[in-house]
Amino acid sequence: MCGIVGYVGPRTAAPILLDGLQRLEYRGYDSAGIAILTPERKIEIKKTQGRLSVLLDALQGSTPPGYLGLGHTRWATHGEPNEINAHPHADCDGRLVVVHNGIIENYGSLREGLRAKGHHFTSETDTEVLAHLIEEEYRGHQGPDEFVTAVRRALKQARGAYALAAFCAEEPELLVGARLFSPMVVGLGSGENYLASDIPALLPYTRQALIVEDGEIVALDREGASIWNLEGVAISREPFHIGWDLEAAEKGGYPHFMLKEIYEEPQVIANALRGRLDGERVLLPEVDKLDLAKIQKAYIVACGTSHYAGLVGKRLIEEFARLPAESIIASEFRYSNPVLDQNTLVILISQSGETADTLAAFRLAKESGAPTLVVANVLGSSITRGADAVLYLQAGPEICVVATKTYLAMLAVLTLLALDLGQRRGLLAHSQIAPILQELRDLSAKVDRVLDGAEAIAEIARRYADRKNFFFIGRGWDYPSALEGALKLKEISYLHAEGYPAGELKHGPIALLDPEVPVMALATPGPLYEKIISNIQEVKARRAKVLAVAAEGDKEITHHADEVLWIPRTLEPLSPILSAVPLQLFAYYVARERGCDIDKPRNLAKSVTVE
Ligand code: AGP
Repeated sequence: MCGIVGYVGPRTAAPILLDGLQRLEYRGYDSAGIAILTPERKIEIKKTQGRLSVLLDALQGSTPPGYLGLGHTRWATHGEPNEINAHPHADCDGRLVVVHNGIIENYGSLREGLRAKGHHFTSETDTEVLAHLIEEEYRGHQGPDEFVTAVRRALKQARGAYALAAFCAEEPELLVGARLFSPMVVGLGSGENYLASDIPALLPYTRQALIVEDGEIVALDREGASIWNLEGVAISREPFHIGWDLEAAEKGGYPHFMLKEIYEEPQVIANALRGRLDGERVLLPEVDKLDLAKIQKAYIVACGTSHYAGLVGKRLIEEFARLPAESIIASEFRYSNPVLDQNTLVILISQSGETADTLAAFRLAKESGAPTLVVANVLGSSITRGADAVLYLQAGPEICVVATKTYLAMLAVLTLLALDLGQRRGLLAHSQIAPILQELRDLSAKVDRVLDGAEAIAEIARRYADRKNFFFIGRGWDYPSALEGALKLKEISYLHAEGYPAGELKHGPIALLDPEVPVMALATPGPLYEKIISNIQEVKARRAKVLAVAAEGDKEITHHADEVLWIPRTLEPLSPILSAVPLQLFAYYVARERGCDIDKPRNLAKSVTVE
């Protein structure tokens, strides 16, 4: 998620912008820049790759004068993290600039149309397309209202998600913002006004704010702010008082980044699918680079939570593409002398793209001549460099050490990959794939429904937070969910939790069960449901408590489980996406009850960059 700041007022803009960007650093970024309109009506842009300190050094003592400006920290989605792709981006003549947070899905076709009209581009970004689109709409017009109209007309042609801020040299006191599916907030000062992606950037300057809603555009001058919808209909909105302190503001008002990121999951699923569904087809042009005719088998290689996503990925690829697939932990794979050749696709999953064991597996695959496909979140991370194909999670930075939203994004992307491989191998008719794609589109709302039940899960967690040992059990599609649920609980509550195939209990672990060892049973609908019910009965016979994740409307489970964590019904191969949410919340509330350091658990790092 990029960071945006904007200022219009009587003070020198640069220091305010740089301070605002520093307050948005927690959002994660790979480059930064500012644009200032000088008193001579020239737009000065300064942008650098890397941390804000690099930009500050580059500006050393020569921050451009001027009272109107934009600042941006970039979390790359299109185009490598480098100075050229950093924001702000300008039009052909450098008479207007834009910064943007989001994804413009149709930027390619828009860029071709603009090139045909003579526009020339310097970067690979979707954002620069917006600058030229506004230029095209503003051509031949002038005046503040005309610039606002030009931005509005440009955005009506764009498809995707954006929080955008722009200004032009002709209007020295006009700042324009707009948002669709990406956050933006207006700060109201006295004789000066601000735009920002998030509240922390506003806190030193004002506590009066104005929310810009999806599909709205806002124009700021020194006196105030005006809001319209994209049809140009004016909207009146009351300001609100910001009561948060800085720490609370960085977490969006949530007590922990983990909870904030869990509540981002409906949007994260939508973003993972964004631009990749076209009616009844999955669109993954990245896969074009693979010679699928040669591929006879896939290894899926990762660590930790990403490995559990890989276990689901294995099932998905075998289910929809009928391609033999094996999911292996990276630290085992790299030393197992695996059979690798041009007929074996190696799929590597890594949120950070920097995990040592997964990188080692990547190098082993490359050396063996095996085609590589990477599923990653951080654009330009080590593992994405040199891969034959890269599928990005598009989940934005994950601040909490434990993976939550990126796990759901991985499952969504792996589902798309499996469906795409099935399509390309001629195994999936449109009539088969259509209902699956529709269910994928419906998942965001279903995750929202699970989040609505968070308080009930918190109550259950409070009842079990004093236990020392847990089992998590599941069968089939539920088995990886059991492993991931156990890991979440271990990581942040420091309680011992073991994920186990439910069918294996009687082969030993059942000896451990007693009333002090609760068992979390994944019991989602499917052909194995009766068998998990039998496993639950075995557990109950040992007087252990049973907590179950089950589908809404399941009456049977209430006769067997002591507690039920409900999820909406979905297609069996998509159930791991929904099952993960109550298990993440359960782990979170147990850890909170135990007073653990949830965002920075002891001994853990966000990315394990050493063996
Ligand atoms: C997940 O909660 C953990 N933080 C950890 O297991 C993580 O999934 C693993 O280290 C892999 O990280 P990666 O996806 O960045 O490679």
